[in-house]
Amino acid sequence: MGFLQNFCSIFPLDKETLERCQPFSCGDVDLDDFFLHDTENYSHQMLGKSYCYCLNGDPSVIVCAFTLANSSMDIRHLPGSRRKKVTALIPREKQLSSYPAVLVCRIGVNMAFRKKGIGSEMLDFIKSLAVQPDNWSSCRFLTVDAYNNERTRRYYQINGFKDLFSTEEQEKEYIGFPPEKELKTRLMYYDLMLLSDKM
Ligand SMILES: CC(C)(COP(=O)(O)OP(=O)(O)OC[C@H]1O[C@@H](n2cnc3c(N)ncnc32)[C@H](O)[C@@H]1OP(=O)(O)O)[C@@H](O)C(=O)NCCC(=O)NCCS
Repeated sequence: MGFLQNFCSIFPLDKETLERCQPFSCGDVDLDDFFLHDTENYSHQMLGKSYCYCLNGDPSVIVCAFTLANSSMDIRHLPGSRRKKVTALIPREKQLSSYPAVLVCRIGVNMAFRKKGIGSEMLDFIKSLAVQPDNWSSCRFLTVDAYNNERTRRYYQINGFKDLFSTEEQEKEYIGFPPEKELKTRLMYYDLMLLSDKM
């Protein structure tokens, strides 16, 4: 049983929640700014829904927050060998050029609660949401544009995410990014079939 499940409750990250809570910081200025100022508008524009977990003992404390959106994972431009790897668990006759996905748009853990497994528990929760049997639509992958630094990439890797492209060069070519520029994020994915007993 994790910390979120035992000691926290989940809320929409909306105006009401933000007014009740102390300012949240995950230590990343852009993410903090998004969670504090943009979630309501983002949701209103139907671009992504944001949620947060607050402490049961003190509901003014936001422990972590995330934003999700429907998405798709386009694999048309992946090199053949890479495409095979990404679709390894999909029967040949069901293979497509793009797959339904849920995009983890934003995710952050309150600086005071880091390195306690909360980020991983939050990803487990997101995975479980994506495969709930009563969802009205289906998705096969979780995707994320992960910050391109060792710590963030390791966080996703230990939670089962893989790089969509094997190299930064391939990824730059695919997204039309100048080869000499530094890639700020890397596309990563998680195959939700890994959770299924249909495997
Ligand atoms: C990335 C982020 C969400 C990870 O959250 P977290 O709660 O610290 O994640 P976890 O605790 O599950 O795992 C992180 C590390 O803690 C370790 N850990 C997990 N449980 C632990 C425990 N009980 N005790 C000690 N360490 C633990 C993990 O092994 C992992 O180790 P590593 O640093 O060697 O990889 C968080 O650091 C964050 O909000 N960062 C800023 C925002 C950001 O970068 N978001 C991602 C954008 S793409």
